[in-house]
Amino acid sequence: MRKIITYGTFDLLHYGHINLLRRAKLLGDYLIVGLSTDQFNDEKHKSAFFGYKERQLVLESIKYVDEVIPEETWGQKINDVKDYDIDVFVIGDDWEGEFNFLTRYCEVTYLERTKNISSTKIKQSLRNV
Ligand code: CTP
Repeated sequence: MRKIITYGTFDLLHYGHINLLRRAKLLGDYLIVGLSTDQFNDEKHKSAFFGYKERQLVLESIKYVDEVIPEETWGQKINDVKDYDIDVFVIGDDWEGEFNFLTRYCEVTYLERTKNISSTKIKQSLRNV
């Protein structure tokens, strides 16, 4: 069983997220998403439209996602990789290089972001409707 982990806020779930989750799942058999809690989003100065429970509900309904766990701190990744016996850490290439320290514990893969879509862009566009 090859286990994959990825992290993010996944607010207003869109096709860029789905592309990322689909390609992440293709790298193995079991995909865990570390979903940023509302408190952690505050720390990152990110404000999600949907709360944690709602974002979790949506993610758990996606066929590529096997499990959702809370992402509460920047520092939890090494422990998560060990505790969940992770083989591959995956994230979009907007984070290229940032998590190379995890290569001591698992494979690290940066996937190309889907162009021209983000939760921020959706929120900005809706403001102009
Ligand atoms: N992602 C992607 N392509 C996009 C948007 C996001 O591949 N167009 C990936 C990110 O690289 C990350 C994951 O999806 O690995 C979750 O990203 P998140 O920050 O939650 O989504 P964004 O839409 O980028 O949100 P925001 O605009 O708030 O930064």
